[in-house]
Amino acid sequence: MKKVIIGANGQIGTELRQRLVQSYGHEAVLAADIVRKDEADKQFILLDATDADALRALFAQTPVDDVYLMAAILSARAEQMPRKAWHINMTILHNLLELGREGFFQSLFWPSSIAVFGPHTPKENTPQYTVMDPDTVYGISKLAGERWMEYYYEKYGLDVRSVRYPGIISWKTRPGGGTTDYAVEMFHYALRGEPYTCYIAPDERLPMMYIDDAIDATIRLMEAPAERLSIRSSYNLAAVHFTPRELEAAIRRYIPDFRVHYAPDFREDIARTWPDSIDDSTARKDWQWHHRYDLDAMVRAMLAGLQKSRYPEVELSF
Ligand code: SER
Repeated sequence: MKKVIIGANGQIGTELRQRLVQSYGHEAVLAADIVRKDEADKQFILLDATDADALRALFAQTPVDDVYLMAAILSARAEQMPRKAWHINMTILHNLLELGREGFFQSLFWPSSIAVFGPHTPKENTPQYTVMDPDTVYGISKLAGERWMEYYYEKYGLDVRSVRYPGIISWKTRPGGGTTDYAVEMFHYALRGEPYTCYIAPDERLPMMYIDDAIDATIRLMEAPAERLSIRSSYNLAAVHFTPRELEAAIRRYIPDFRVHYAPDFREDIARTWPDSIDDSTARKDWQWHHRYDLDAMVRAMLAGLQKSRYPEVELSF
């Protein structure tokens, strides 16, 4: 039986694939994306997942147990093309929910986001159940998706599982089109010795997470016994939270000359409506979720990973 990752070339899909291959073997993991990166990749399928027939053909040929749906248009990019982003984010999810209902696979992982919260949501320690009034297309699509996930679980017994990812910080693959991308960009500028102009206000606090923790959470949730799961919409999930100024200071501990200028744009208007911190106690209780990376551990992992892979000329001491 196979695991299929839709959106396998993205920021999270890329590392999720590596981890699933480590755990289950190369043959057991099928990667699909709308762009091909490597012509020689035999475990890859070029696929537009908004095309229901193409998806059905894939599942008709291959016995699948778990599907990881990681394809989406993120928050900032979605604001530039609202209807297209809605179409892409919702159509792919609906296509897969229907195939799941028809029995083509066992379990579906689909990530939601802190973007499901909005201007009237309590900002600190945002509870699992609270006011949700997202005012971005991305946030609206994630909240609607959460409701559809729970609907398919309740009405059809489909085994759906989800977490609300915070901003994800990684060095192997860059994020694209998100509001939280600034936190990844800062590291690249710091290592290149260039000043960074930050589009988020210096004191705008947002929930964030190092990629290894995000992958651990995903796999831990998918491996949890079904009877332990009390939430089938999407679990609040948290690790660290910081402001751009705090991240700047944390990077400067290792790269003292690093400088950041602040020029907030429309992405600050999005960030302002999202939580500062998240209460994820239900995930911690139901499936023993715990994070491993605090801010400093994340900064060191980012600098070391990027230095080794992209900026070998930079000398760093930890
Ligand atoms: N990182 C995402 C974004 O900024 C949030 O889910 O859009």
